[in-house]
Amino acid sequence: MVWQGVLCYAAAMEQRFDTKTEAIRHAPWRRLMDRSLGRARSVPTMLSLEEQKLYHWLTAFWADGAGAIVDLGCFAGGSTARLAEGHRIAGLVSAIHAYDRFTADEDVKQSILYKQGLSPFEGNDILPLARDLLAPWGDAIHFHRGEIDQMSWEGGPIEILVMDASKAAETMDRMAEAFFPYLVPGRSLIVQQDFLHWSQPWVPVQMERMPVHFTPLAYAPRDTVVFLCTEAPDREALATARTAHLSDSELVAHLEVAARSFSDWGLEQRLRDMIDGLRANPGKRRAYQFRKP
Ligand SMILES: C[S@@+](CC[C@H](N)C(=O)[O-])C[C@H]1O[C@@H](n2cnc3c(N)ncnc32)[C@H](O)[C@@H]1O
Repeated sequence: MVWQGVLCYAAAMEQRFDTKTEAIRHAPWRRLMDRSLGRARSVPTMLSLEEQKLYHWLTAFWADGAGAIVDLGCFAGGSTARLAEGHRIAGLVSAIHAYDRFTADEDVKQSILYKQGLSPFEGNDILPLARDLLAPWGDAIHFHRGEIDQMSWEGGPIEILVMDASKAAETMDRMAEAFFPYLVPGRSLIVQQDFLHWSQPWVPVQMERMPVHFTPLAYAPRDTVVFLCTEAPDREALATARTAHLSDSELVAHLEVAARSFSDWGLEQRLRDMIDGLRANPGKRRAYQFRKP
């Protein structure tokens, strides 16, 4: 049976897919027009245009209410807005959870928020701003302020988990322990926003250490790889997947494996660049400590 959501969408693309897993492998969001992002387009974001369309597609066409939509690292709400707009047009009733410490320094305000049209404002607190920008999607969005790695999740199954706050190996490990057990095998996706970012080598290493639990399905430039959960990781699997205690040479060995397994995706060099980045920054486990080789 043809999956209806994909059928509607595929009709516009003159393509048919039997399952949404097959559809996502063909990057259908690339066919979305910019205007399909709707009101979300006015919310400043650090995402590339293709990543924005991917987020929209995931909630508009992949999600079918198997669990919550969780955005770890929503900043001023840009990623959450793209998810929320897709969620709205799909008529989903699942909750959307936006996590962040919700602060921005003057440099970030200047380079992202003002550059994308917001008026200058006083102070570093951006929670009121995020609430304001996300108001069009109303009560669907729940805000969680604080250090995500010190929080727990009690919202039941998670259908789409966006990871955009994995800026340090140790905090990423803790986030995985708190959220990954709630993914639903065969239905849930992890969006690894920084999978290919040269200064965060622990991200692909974490995924490489859970091959039974996650299968890569899609890539959206610049840095995003989407994984299907094939088996929810238990406590033991999550302990094995920890990255913070690994030496540089252990991280490099895992990155070598990841580079080979993503060679068919044309991504081998991106992972090799990450190895170069790590070698130029020995012992560093926080993205902001990395200097370009
Ligand atoms: C790259 S930005 C996210 C961009 C956002 N998704 C967008 O669409 O513009 C990363 C965000 O993660 C947040 N972050 C990183 N580590 C965090 C932590 N441990 N706890 C809470 N927030 C964190 C930062 O405050 C920042 O807003």
